[in-house]
Amino acid sequence: MTDECPEQQPGDPGAGPVARRLKVLIARDELAREVQRLAQEITRDYHGKNPLIIGILKGSFVFLADLIRLLDFPVEIDLVRLSSYGSATVSSGKVKMVHGLETSVRDRHVIIVDDIVDTGLSLSHFATYIKRRRPTSVKTCTLLDKPSRRQVKINVDYVGIAIPDKFVVGYGIDCNEAYRNLCDICVVEE
Ligand code: IMP
Ligand code: MG
Repeated sequence: MTDECPEQQPGDPGAGPVARRLKVLIARDELAREVQRLAQEITRDYHGKNPLIIGILKGSFVFLADLIRLLDFPVEIDLVRLSSYGSATVSSGKVKMVHGLETSVRDRHVIIVDDIVDTGLSLSHFATYIKRRRPTSVKTCTLLDKPSRRQVKINVDYVGIAIPDKFVVGYGIDCNEAYRNLCDICVVEE
């Protein structure tokens, strides 16, 4: 099933949601507090371990950029691009790696960073892919979690905020490539 994204706005400014169909779900101050909390936990667990942090594009790029600047130790970053949605608001259930890793994960402590865990299919597929490449350890981190939508059992180690089953945008997260530049997480109202 595919629900088309509501009409796109012609370039919202980053200052806030101006389109009529957006409702703030998580304001920027709360996001900042959560990112700070996650960074503190990760700093506590990884200090001195030189982890490789792998961001899943595109949705996690804003979260990743804020998170890593709060980590108080050296880190390395790699990025992959997974795709499971196309232009729909409901997951197709198929996970494709559109752009792969450039760094070896062998004998590394790896932290995978995603924007939202929804069905859990993307993160679970990707964590399995990484584990097969013999890292020292693998942990997962997500800004948002939609536990009610889960289709596979997956343990996420660092979870920001649990949200209801709503389609959200902003802070890097899109609907048909729109709204990534919003500073708050908003619900797109149909
Ligand atoms: P999953 O494989 O169903 O867990 O979801 C994978 C990806 O779908 C997430 O990392 C997001 O990039 C995207 N996604 C899930 N829910 C939403 C949403 O509400 N808005 C925008 N993208 C979403
Ligand atoms: Mg994602």
